[in-house]
Amino acid sequence: MSKEKKDGKSRRELLTMGSAFGLMGLAAAGTGGALFKYMMPVVSYGTPQKFLVPIKDLPEVGDELIFDDMKVVLRRQTEKEVAAISLVCTHLGCTVNRVETGFLCPCHGSQYDSDGIVVGGPAPKTLPWLEIKVVPGGQIEIDTGTTLEENSFFAVA
Ligand code: FES
Repeated sequence: MSKEKKDGKSRRELLTMGSAFGLMGLAAAGTGGALFKYMMPVVSYGTPQKFLVPIKDLPEVGDELIFDDMKVVLRRQTEKEVAAISLVCTHLGCTVNRVETGFLCPCHGSQYDSDGIVVGGPAPKTLPWLEIKVVPGGQIEIDTGTTLEENSFFAVA
């Protein structure tokens, strides 16, 4: 004989409902945690830094040099023109990889063309182009803290 409460629900039914709500709560918490993790960058942006590159070590015309530590690609457009593009994804700050078609972010799949312009994914804007100055000693200085429009090339001679 089952015991009935005044509202007609048995203890077993109440326990089953309680368990179901508990599981739904756990599932919601898990989903919320996963969503929160998706929204947070997995890398730190770090402090903007300047770094030097000897002019004699610039890439060949039409070629690029990637500075992994600084998250920058240095492009030599012509004999006298260079540009630097940040490899920090404009979505949540992961480091993008250079691929044949441009740049690809491994975190959430943002795609950029070879000038850093967004062509797919959640990234909200173009990869920043960076300021370059010629400094004494036959070197250029790349400033990761000064961002510019795309196609900002600088004279090196
Ligand atoms: S950090 Fe999300 S797509 Fe790059």
